[in-house]
Amino acid sequence: MTEIGEIEGIDTPFYLYDIDLLRRTLQKVCDNASRYGFFVHYALKANFEPRILQEVKSFRLGTDCVSGGEVRASVEAGFDPAGIVFAGVGKRDDEIEYALEKGIFAFNCESLEELEVIDGIAAKSGRRARVALRINPDVDPQTHKNISTGQADSKFGIAYTEIEEAIERAESLRNTDIVGLHFHIGSQITNLKVFEYLCKRVVSIMSWFEGRGVKITYVNVGGGLGINYESPRTEPIPDFDTYFRIFADNLPLRPDQTLHFELGRSIVAQCGALITKVLYNKKTASGKNYVLVDASMTELIRPALYGAHHHIENLTPHDGTEVYSIAGGVCESSDIFARDITLPVTERGDLLALHSAGAYGQSMASCYNMRPLPRSVYYTEVDGIE
Ligand code: LLP
Repeated sequence: MTEIGEIEGIDTPFYLYDIDLLRRTLQKVCDNASRYGFFVHYALKANFEPRILQEVKSFRLGTDCVSGGEVRASVEAGFDPAGIVFAGVGKRDDEIEYALEKGIFAFNCESLEELEVIDGIAAKSGRRARVALRINPDVDPQTHKNISTGQADSKFGIAYTEIEEAIERAESLRNTDIVGLHFHIGSQITNLKVFEYLCKRVVSIMSWFEGRGVKITYVNVGGGLGINYESPRTEPIPDFDTYFRIFADNLPLRPDQTLHFELGRSIVAQCGALITKVLYNKKTASGKNYVLVDASMTELIRPALYGAHHHIENLTPHDGTEVYSIAGGVCESSDIFARDITLPVTERGDLLALHSAGAYGQSMASCYNMRPLPRSVYYTEVDGIE
């Protein structure tokens, strides 16, 4: 990572991306996936900064999109439409039309009604739609409830209780090819046993479909691999070896079947940090020390939304330590990055880094309180800061 001297003059707050780490991470993903012949679609929602997309594209990954905007961003960044998959519970007609026109690899279809809408739009546009059924397998991802997507009461996917009806309806579709199955049970999954349970469910659901005469050639198990937020420096690259091996060992495939993944967080989280400047120190009547910084929940909403932990470092050298709560300037009591953490003595003008912010940081930024969107700065060993 960079030295503080290199970033001292840059207007804060900003996202700082370590492009060398991103490349090493992508290399690791590709080495492991290619060992087993797996396909990886990068989940754009994690981070869609153009520079990040260029790096991902140079490793020849496909993309996983959940809106027409993300499909468009993939196409405009030069990704091959034949590597784009499109999920999302609420696809609009114009988004479906656009994706059909571009010839994406597959829609991951989330309801029986959507299946018919896609078929109708394909008929009108004189095209065939390639569709995978996103099945909700009812597997507990053992993660935060707001990022769990594969349990029985979730809004995502087609209920496994409806798959019989899905087949019946699919048989009447004239412009749609059902090519496979899609699953995505949640995000920031750190107990890798969960992926073994998922494999078991996938195997049984796949064989059920094939038993009914639906030939499955495309199997997509989504994303979800978690990262180490507590200690980013000791684990800058997630354990892709174990992750992919679990699928290779637990999900047997025929030669005509391909296995696809939609990884977001595990690829980009650790390469990004939010850099912010200390504005004020203050003490409450109860004796709490607040450090007010110039970033807020509008730049990084994860702590406010999920109680997420991001490791915070004071980049400006100081002697001594103190216990602080680090807060942003937005008019919301949840705009707190960390409560009661020990940091070196922290003063106005110091630069703080909020680590592991490359995924769902900048991409979830907002303009609430009419704050500007954060900028991005890139670092490589060879080119320095750009
Ligand atoms: N595929 C689908 C269909 C998804 O919905 C998601 C994430 C992914 C793949 C990528 O999952 P990943 O590999 O990044 O775990 N904003 C939350 C995370 C929301 C995840 C939404 N879906 C956060 O900041 O933790």
